[in-house]
Amino acid sequence: AAVEKGNYRHYMQKEIFEQPTVVAQTLSSYVHQANETVALPQVDFDLSAIKRVTIVACGTSYYAGMVAKYWFEQFARVPVDIDVASEFRYRDPVLEPGGLALFISQSGETADTLAALRHCKANGQTIGVVVNVPTSSMAREADLLLPTHAGPEIGVASTKAFTCQLAVLAALAAHMAVKKGYMSRDEEREVVKHLLEAPAALNAALDHDDDIAGMAHLIAPARDVLYLGRGPDYPLAMEGALKLKEISYIHAEGYASGEMKHGPIALIDEAVPVIVLAPSGPLFEKTVSNMQEVRARGGKVVLISDEEGLAEAGEDCLATIQMPKVHPLIAPLVYAVPVQLLAYHVACVKGTDVDQPRNLAKSVTVE
Ligand code: G6P
Repeated sequence: AAVEKGNYRHYMQKEIFEQPTVVAQTLSSYVHQANETVALPQVDFDLSAIKRVTIVACGTSYYAGMVAKYWFEQFARVPVDIDVASEFRYRDPVLEPGGLALFISQSGETADTLAALRHCKANGQTIGVVVNVPTSSMAREADLLLPTHAGPEIGVASTKAFTCQLAVLAALAAHMAVKKGYMSRDEEREVVKHLLEAPAALNAALDHDDDIAGMAHLIAPARDVLYLGRGPDYPLAMEGALKLKEISYIHAEGYASGEMKHGPIALIDEAVPVIVLAPSGPLFEKTVSNMQEVRARGGKVVLISDEEGLAEAGEDCLATIQMPKVHPLIAPLVYAVPVQLLAYHVACVKGTDVDQPRNLAKSVTVE
């Protein structure tokens, strides 16, 4: 049956708001709620023997992979390579035996990602696929099929598929950590507990929709916007910039906060809003000093943080967006919401075609 928009103005908006439900749906097949363990489909290879993970994807799916790199390294102590598919497939990558090649795709049909998958298969890698369309080409060629249960995604700019990909990747990283002996039973229980907190936290993030709609007019006139983040929020900064580019046609760049001084700081003036993604925590102070560097040059900051972070550094901002205080594991899922909503509302202010942005396709099946 055709997917309806219901009470929403756009599919993208509907899909943003579906995230608590579809992330819960996805998690329900990756965790055993009763015994609080991560659970993966049965596979006929040994996850504990994986020596290296090679992640390949495009667009938003690539940024999900970038977040996952932090998790695989932190939890499972496994080295991770990551690349966009169009580069990976032409650069003669080193693929040693014992490698897991992991492909992330909403559609399962992106031509470059599929070609990269076949290249890895021909070179002896175990093929893992995180995919939203279970009947897709990539799904059919997987050794380890990890479906996201986001339901059909219609808006060209990916939203709910992304957060579901993150949920699956967190579970996979934790599972591999358990298998490799780097994660104790208690730590696994903690991970499961935090993952299961994600749907409520996503709802709490969505509660700030009105605030974000109310500040979108501050960003809409900009010609350039900079997004900054650290750690797993660095890929989120890039995802935020991608969303804004895709649907509002404003030039935007995502940068690692600490890298700003190596270039982007030259762009800062009162006309370039800087969106800072910074949950409170050990790296927060560093980000605050980056914000000061921005302000010292007349730059205007939009700070996205939790109550603690906003209390400490929310003054003198162009605007602030409050997120719930969450465990760092699920922060990338939660902070996806405000960057999606910000892009969405800025696009609405500008009157662009949110669901069918110019020049873009939902699934890129040509090279
Ligand atoms: C296109 C879409 C993006 C998507 C990318 C990768 O560019 O517009 O939203 O992230 O393809 O698609 P995939 O289906 O492989 O995740």
